[in-house]
Amino acid sequence: MAKKDNKSFGDGQRRGDRMRERVKTARGRKLSSTRWLERQLNDPYVAAAKQDGYRSRAAYKIIEMDDRFKFFKPGGCAIDLGSAPGGWAQVAAHRLGAVKEKGFVAAIDIQDMEPIPGVAFLKLDFLDDNAPELVRELAGRRADIVMSDMAAAVTGHRQTDHLRTMALAEAAAWFAFEALKPGGSFCAKVFQGGTSGGLLTDLKIRFGNVMHMKPKSSRKESVELYVIARDFKG
Ligand SMILES: C[S@@+](CC[C@H](N)C(=O)[O-])C[C@H]1O[C@@H](n2cnc3c(N)ncnc32)[C@H](O)[C@@H]1O
Repeated sequence: MAKKDNKSFGDGQRRGDRMRERVKTARGRKLSSTRWLERQLNDPYVAAAKQDGYRSRAAYKIIEMDDRFKFFKPGGCAIDLGSAPGGWAQVAAHRLGAVKEKGFVAAIDIQDMEPIPGVAFLKLDFLDDNAPELVRELAGRRADIVMSDMAAAVTGHRQTDHLRTMALAEAAAWFAFEALKPGGSFCAKVFQGGTSGGLLTDLKIRFGNVMHMKPKSSRKESVELYVIARDFKG
């Protein structure tokens, strides 16, 4: 488990004032892979995740959102949709006291995830007909937060990618309406341009407060942002 979960970065660090590492294009490596590698090597959140023991740099996104909105109450229950490799689940388990204080995290991903203490994991496509019911059973109680970082595999076709990720966010929202306890929260990855009109209307009917946030740790060039709905009316 990570020792620190309140890392913040000075502007200088985020601008990448440190010496940038350049990666030479190796024979056989695509230019896009070289760029990805260069970005990883120069990303302070990647370095911090390694140092703090998080499985992904994504951990800092949920840390930032929880620092602001206080989703995780000790002893509470979180449902993590699209959890692999497990950064969000690590943060949730730690902040809920999932090992010591009876907090609990139920997680699902279409890919495998290495075990995390206090986290029950289901390897399944969330869009399978029986997945929502199985995740609710895994949690065994109503959740304080349903969080979805699910992202469809990128096709490179902007509109297709947008529509597929929005479909996942909508499925996550409809699941949250069934799985949350009154007063609970919902947080899901959506794409720039925000939540589609229909989903936003549904969320506004069922939650006291709905807004969008782009955490500082979300890459500037990424079109992702998060819709956050709080105070579920039940
Ligand atoms: C950005 S990653 C999540 C990172 C994670 N929050 C973390 O902190 O490590 C998105 C995940 O969504 C998962 N995913 C995409 N579509 C899914 C689906 N239909 N059902 C379950 N998981 C899905 C992917 O397999 C991937 O692991």
